[in-house]
Amino acid sequence: MKINIKEMDEFLVELLSEVGKNLLVDSKKDKSVGTKSSRIDLVTNFDKSTEKWLVGKIKEKYSEATIFSEEGYGDVVKDMSGLVFFVDPIDGTMNFVKRRDDFASMIGVYLDGKPFLGAIIDVVKQEIYHGGPDYGVFRNEEKVISPKNQSLPEGLVDISWPMVVADRFNSQAVVQKSSGLRIYGSAGIIFEHLIFGREVLYMSYLAPWDLAAGRVLCESLGLKVSTIDDSPVNMLKSQVVIVGTEKVISEVLKTVKK
Ligand code: IPD
Ligand code: CA
Ligand code: CA
Repeated sequence: MKINIKEMDEFLVELLSEVGKNLLVDSKKDKSVGTKSSRIDLVTNFDKSTEKWLVGKIKEKYSEATIFSEEGYGDVVKDMSGLVFFVDPIDGTMNFVKRRDDFASMIGVYLDGKPFLGAIIDVVKQEIYHGGPDYGVFRNEEKVISPKNQSLPEGLVDISWPMVVADRFNSQAVVQKSSGLRIYGSAGIIFEHLIFGREVLYMSYLAPWDLAAGRVLCESLGLKVSTIDDSPVNMLKSQVVIVGTEKVISEVLKTVKK
């Protein structure tokens, strides 16, 4: 399949700038808030309306694509052949509801199973991080350079709070070897910190739409994305993922216990 990568990147940026403008306003409005898998897994009317709009726009332009999205407006995606879009309309819905900051919207695109393009908007900053392995990575129009290959003691780590609290996978030992723990509550915002070298590790149980865009951007900049047992990442299932610098990932793989 021949795809014009620049045209697609511009399309993703256009979609997320529209979504970002709207969500900034929506975050201050009253919301209808429901729960999904647990009392802390939230969904709002804005998660649904944003996803519906994004899926419609993607279908209009790339009718051959399949869409793997969080709130159910996409397709049932059974394999990674062809063009697959992953959509997380609001990433960090808890922050969107409670704090009105540190939330994102994300689109990841894979072609025949390979990372192709990713785009994440930090809604409050109104900055879009976008690009891919054959295109480069940008913050709005500015090119992003690869972060330094920092070691675990040199950097801050971000591990999902249930994992640290329960010391799953020996995660507390990972924190103790680092410069400290930060927990932002939005995968998209954490990917932003990773690509600029402000944090050196993200460890969390992630769904495909949580991981897709960030994986593209991180790998394009030389960061590593791995499962906890060093097996290949499967983009069609939820799994525990570690993302970080090469030095940190090799250290973490030695420290974690399954
Ligand atoms: C959640 C956030 C959070 C991560 C959860 C995700 P959502 O996404 O990214 O940081 O720890 O695993 O589900 O539900 O707000 O899109
Ligand atoms: Ca979401
Ligand atoms: Ca998410």
